[in-house]
Amino acid sequence: MAEQSTLILIKPDAVERGLVGAVLGRLEAKGLTIEKMEMRTMTDDLAAEHYAEHVERPFYPALKEFMTSAPLVALVASGDEAIPAVRALAGATDGRKADAGTIRGDYSLSNQRNLIHASDSPESAKREIDLWFG
Ligand code: PPS
Repeated sequence: MAEQSTLILIKPDAVERGLVGAVLGRLEAKGLTIEKMEMRTMTDDLAAEHYAEHVERPFYPALKEFMTSAPLVALVASGDEAIPAVRALAGATDGRKADAGTIRGDYSLSNQRNLIHASDSPESAKREIDLWFG
């Protein structure tokens, strides 16, 4: 048993499309516990901190524009091996390539409008939970 907590963002596209409930349902059905949850709008500063490893990437301006464009749902979920479990539920970054049965594979055709962000390691989870809920 390795109890973990992970930071999840249900992205603005999922909010706009009315898919928050569908995404939360997948997380709850898996057995994860929702510890904290809040609707927030990402600021430019928060985007730069959250995506610190991507700010120099060519896609960052588009990513920032999208993520700050409308409200999202930030949450902390916990459970046994929650970090890899949520990454597996989310599927590959690009919804066009993500496996059917995953959140992105079932609901996205994009590598930007791909419904969900999930921490990719224990270090990222700690940093991101502190950033959003510290
Ligand atoms: S990488 O290259 O593996 O480090 O990047 P990846 O983890 O796949 O993606 C990091 C986040 O950037 C988003 N992304 C993009 N946004 C806009 N345009 C393009 N081309 C693009 N490529 C990747 C992607 O949705 C990831 O967002 P998060 O919030 O981390 O899921």
